[in-house]
Amino acid sequence: MKYIVLVGAPGAGKGTQAKLLEAEFGLPQVSTGDLFRYNLSRQTELGGLAKAYMDRGELVPDDVTISMVRERLSQADCANGGILDGFPRTLAQADALDKLLAEFAGSVNVVPYIKVEQDVLVKRLLRRAEIEGRTDDNQETIQNRMRVYFAQTTPLLDFYRAKGVLVEVNGDQPVEAVYQDLRTVIAAI
Ligand code: AP5
Repeated sequence: MKYIVLVGAPGAGKGTQAKLLEAEFGLPQVSTGDLFRYNLSRQTELGGLAKAYMDRGELVPDDVTISMVRERLSQADCANGGILDGFPRTLAQADALDKLLAEFAGSVNVVPYIKVEQDVLVKRLLRRAEIEGRTDDNQETIQNRMRVYFAQTTPLLDFYRAKGVLVEVNGDQPVEAVYQDLRTVIAAI
């Protein structure tokens, strides 16, 4: 059983890399952002709840997010683990994940931190806005997503560093080069 947690700021390439790694390692991508967007598109109750937070670039409350992840990780395709993308994002979520994985007799095996400078991140997200039109990829919401990331998610770096599972990867390289670095990190666990 392997659980890989991709950490990085908005636009760092978590989703891009998780999709590539999914095929290589036979582990499903578990993206909380994608799960919320799926619920939004289906107009579910969960989607309705998440919308206001996502539109503002705020985090959806921990209890809602944690129970969604619990349900997803309990599904059959996650029996051998998963590649978590965008979760955890707070220390409370990280604690909840540890407890949840302990129930499955698993733990977080490695946390690749995809590091990219902020000016590069903003350019990537504004470019994606032109191509894909994701509603939270606008100047104001991007700034808030960055603020939220620094305030609420960066404490996870020390949390996982202290556990000896954090590995820094240079995310400011072509997608293929980042992927090769991640493959090496994950193959080593
Ligand atoms: P989420 O969907 O997770 O958004 P995010 O973290 O802001 O991440 P992004 O999808 O923007 O970036 P990414 O790192 O995945 O990069 P990507 O590969 O897409 O979350 C959205 C919202 O949902 C949150 O704001 C919050 O409201 C809610 N939410 C989600 N998880 C939550 C949680 N755990 N708790 C509470 N709320 C939660 O790449 C970005 C762009 O860059 C793409 O266009 C890509 O093609 C390009 N790119 C990628 N890699 C490279 C590269 N190496 N070189 C050049 N371009 C690249």
